[in-house]
Amino acid sequence: MIITELKDVHKRYHLGETQVKALCGVSLSIAEGDLIAVWGASGSGKSTLLNIIGLIDEPSSGTLKLNGHEVGEMPDNVKTDLRSRYMGFIFQNFNLMPILTALENVMLPLQVQGVSAAEAKEKALNCLQSVGMERFALHRPDKLSGGQRQRVAIARGLVTEPKLLICDEPTANLDFENAERVMDLMCELNQKRGITFLFSTHDTRLIDRVKRIVYLEDGTIVKDERA
Ligand SMILES: Nc1ncnc2c1ncn2[C@@H]1O[C@H](COP(=O)(O)OP(=O)(O)OP(=O)(O)O)[C@@H](O)[C@H]1O
Ligand SMILES: [Mg+2]
Repeated sequence: MIITELKDVHKRYHLGETQVKALCGVSLSIAEGDLIAVWGASGSGKSTLLNIIGLIDEPSSGTLKLNGHEVGEMPDNVKTDLRSRYMGFIFQNFNLMPILTALENVMLPLQVQGVSAAEAKEKALNCLQSVGMERFALHRPDKLSGGQRQRVAIARGLVTEPKLLICDEPTANLDFENAERVMDLMCELNQKRGITFLFSTHDTRLIDRVKRIVYLEDGTIVKDERA
């Protein structure tokens, strides 16, 4: 089943008088159960593409459909609701809240949805366990390594049980061992729980582990390859 579909998506940014074309006519379908790496050099448009698919940013033109419904026609509150129900987003720089513990960071998306503290805590602890971080539940992010922070960020992305987990450069700044662990975790969650993954990378160490690679060059898909 196709969960996300982009047709001829363009994204232009305006910087004063000049215009930057970040995406130039991208068409892409993401099926349930996919594990996709978006590959491209710095500035090729990876984050822009992920932000649009994650409903964090909007296309300048073209269409985006989610579960068959066109997103451009939805009111903002419907979009926000869809984003929190169906998608998890893991940012390039983790975006963990520094004053909250790992556990509180993971509980947060549920509490935003109005889930009770007790239920949020139970679910958050389960997610921390699934990423091997339960022992660090009460640590604040500054007491964790880069790989551990990334695993907490993945737990936070998972806690709402999204269909699609979008990760912008999930292994950037990680050493080989930690990058492998994050990749192992994504593969396991994809296989065992059927979570669809879309992540951007320029990390050659990960590229043979995915089901599909979408190559971006200057805002255009130049190759879409299945393993
Ligand atoms: N908010 C913005 N305003 C203006 N230009 C932007 C903005 N965001 C991105 N761009 C430009 O759009 C292009 C694509 O940027 P994007 O961040 O999507 O690339 P990327 O592939 O994610 O790069 P990296 O690997 O460095 O993260 C770049 O030329 C960038 O300078
Ligand atoms: Mg980026």
